[in-house]
Amino acid sequence: MATDEWSDALVRVLAEARRAVAVAPSSFDMPTTVADSRIDCAESLDWLDRLPGGSAGGIVTDPPYSSGGAFRGDRANSNATSKYIGREQRKNYQTDFAGDSRDQRAWGYWIELMLRKALRVVEPGGVACVFVDWRQIATLTDAIQAAGWILRGIVPWDKTEGSRPVLGRFRSQCEYIVWASKGRMGLDRNAPVLPGCIRASVSRDKEHPTQKPVDVLRIVSRIVEAGKPIVDPFAGSGSHGVAAVLEGHPFVGCECVPHYATFGAIWLGETINRIQSNPTLFEDVEATQEPLAGLQ
Ligand SMILES: C[S@@+](CC[C@H](N)C(=O)[O-])C[C@H]1O[C@@H](n2cnc3c(N)ncnc32)[C@H](O)[C@@H]1O
Repeated sequence: MATDEWSDALVRVLAEARRAVAVAPSSFDMPTTVADSRIDCAESLDWLDRLPGGSAGGIVTDPPYSSGGAFRGDRANSNATSKYIGREQRKNYQTDFAGDSRDQRAWGYWIELMLRKALRVVEPGGVACVFVDWRQIATLTDAIQAAGWILRGIVPWDKTEGSRPVLGRFRSQCEYIVWASKGRMGLDRNAPVLPGCIRASVSRDKEHPTQKPVDVLRIVSRIVEAGKPIVDPFAGSGSHGVAAVLEGHPFVGCECVPHYATFGAIWLGETINRIQSNPTLFEDVEATQEPLAGLQ
């Protein structure tokens, strides 16, 4: 076997071993090194209650928006994937995801509950970054403040002209990152100046129907102080974990659908193995404090 094949095989074996540990939550510790990062298969509200208080630098998450349908019937009768993905691409996603059928009032109540639990887990001065679409943005900015966070702003994610056009309408081209802090944020935080708007197209090669691009998540992760743990209660494909460890943050995620928890744990494990076997991957990342290639 050639050296590259050996190293690929080793990466696969280590990722499998890591998955076996990662998918069943055997402990609820906060990881303190990149190598200890993991994704647990669990229900997120219960899971957040078990993580140690004040142990994370921030939460970077993308909850189900519960907003793809205009009417109650759209939300309750169709599966989540069909609300977000065109008919021709649905066949690529064999597994639906959870938690996308609340109406707006119930979603507001639920997200406030989640954000209150996340507040306990994050250290004073730590941050929350929560993805959302235009329909739920007002509910989210209310809920995040009701949960006890200080609302700091909204960063648009411009998905570019690649997003689906509809004749006679504005393109539905942006999603948003609502961000907030747990109390005061000192000016001496160990974090760089970050862009107020992120422009990057949605990747075509996705495992999860609402998967966010790693490049976008890497930029968002930089708002958490360098080296501090990041939490994601709605891990989906694990993309937030991959971005976090590439930025040097320990990561712990939670996903209740076993297919996605498993996929995420494997992807995260492979990324950690790549970082460990090629430390220059880290150096490249540390040198890249400006927006990544391809992002304006
Ligand atoms: C919008 S998706 C996240 C996608 C992710 N950002 C990515 O890039 O792959 C939300 C995820 O949260 C999961 N989820 C929904 N409710 C949950 C709950 N109560 N506990 C744990 N996971 C949940 C869904 O199954 C779904 O995969």
